[in-house]
Amino acid sequence: MRDFSVDPDITKARTIHTDFYTSPEVFELCKEKIFAPSWQFIGNTALVKDHDDVHPFTLLENHLDEPLALTKSKDGQIHLVSNVCTHRGNIVAEKTCHVSKLRCRYHGRTFSLDGKFLSMPEFKEVQNFPAKTDDLTSLPLFRWSNFLFSAMNKKFQPEVFFNDMMKRVSWMPLDQFVFRPELSKEFHVKANWALYCENYLEGFHIPYVHAELNAVIDFENYTTELFFPYSNLQIGMARKNEGCFDLPESSPEYGKKVAAYYFWVFPNMMFNFYPWGLSVNVVSPLTVSECKVSFFTYVWDESKMKTGAGFGLDRVEQEDEEIVENVQRGVRSRFYEQGRYSATRERGTHHFHRILADFIK
Ligand code: FES
Ligand SMILES: [Fe+2]
Repeated sequence: MRDFSVDPDITKARTIHTDFYTSPEVFELCKEKIFAPSWQFIGNTALVKDHDDVHPFTLLENHLDEPLALTKSKDGQIHLVSNVCTHRGNIVAEKTCHVSKLRCRYHGRTFSLDGKFLSMPEFKEVQNFPAKTDDLTSLPLFRWSNFLFSAMNKKFQPEVFFNDMMKRVSWMPLDQFVFRPELSKEFHVKANWALYCENYLEGFHIPYVHAELNAVIDFENYTTELFFPYSNLQIGMARKNEGCFDLPESSPEYGKKVAAYYFWVFPNMMFNFYPWGLSVNVVSPLTVSECKVSFFTYVWDESKMKTGAGFGLDRVEQEDEEIVENVQRGVRSRFYEQGRYSATRERGTHHFHRILADFIK
């Protein structure tokens, strides 16, 4: 396979080779090398509000395509288990339900809500049964306030991805953020998932692509902080006092006019904090040249929704979509393979490309 490595020195580096965005083989490799071991956003704890609630879902449909079920047992614990019956592989929970145990409707095998095998008809004669492998696989679950994340294996500790962000916004009352499904959205983008992410990772394009956002953000004071290994932060300062955070002294930005904190967590999550609340964006790969972007909206102070950098997000999204779809057409060209980075404005994108290269090798 091609060597995707990217020079750690941004002043010397060339951008990741375009095969990354166009090769179906590389796209396939991303599944097990990037998406399976990394932490993925599931949603918030309200998905299983009461004990005995079961919420089945597919993790990264069309990519990882993993059938899972989030459950809450009687003791109030939340569990994430494989939703595939250990008998012959049927899907166990088919829709959201309220049950004290899971029952597979193919041949009646039952499991407790934490995935333990309970019973199976017509299996008296079967030797060495039940065994550990007859339980539903239990998956790692990471909880940050009311947000839930999981990884398909235990290769990485969640703290490696989330700690810097968690520390930086620890003063925010995240438990008071309310999920608003009617303000949440999905967008279908005709571009490789990584092109969408790398566009997010630089504010360089704001004056060129987002005229209205540029009017409220102070481009000169836009900053990017890299957190090693797997996350980074861009801060948009407000041009005017309107639409900025009321920061406590404990914040490193105390006294500054912050309009937005844009955190990115490898590989596909964005946590955009605005004075009104949070927009979590998740980029799901669909095909090598298509992805889905889901916006989950959590409101903290609704009265601040009409001003600042967190207003008009649909327009900004559309402007980004248009440009990354153009880039997808461009990276297929026989005349373009790699470019260079601005050492001042594209550090986030460079950081991302380096991590990609590292995971894919
Ligand atoms: S597949 Fe579930 S009981 Fe047979
Ligand atoms: Fe943008």
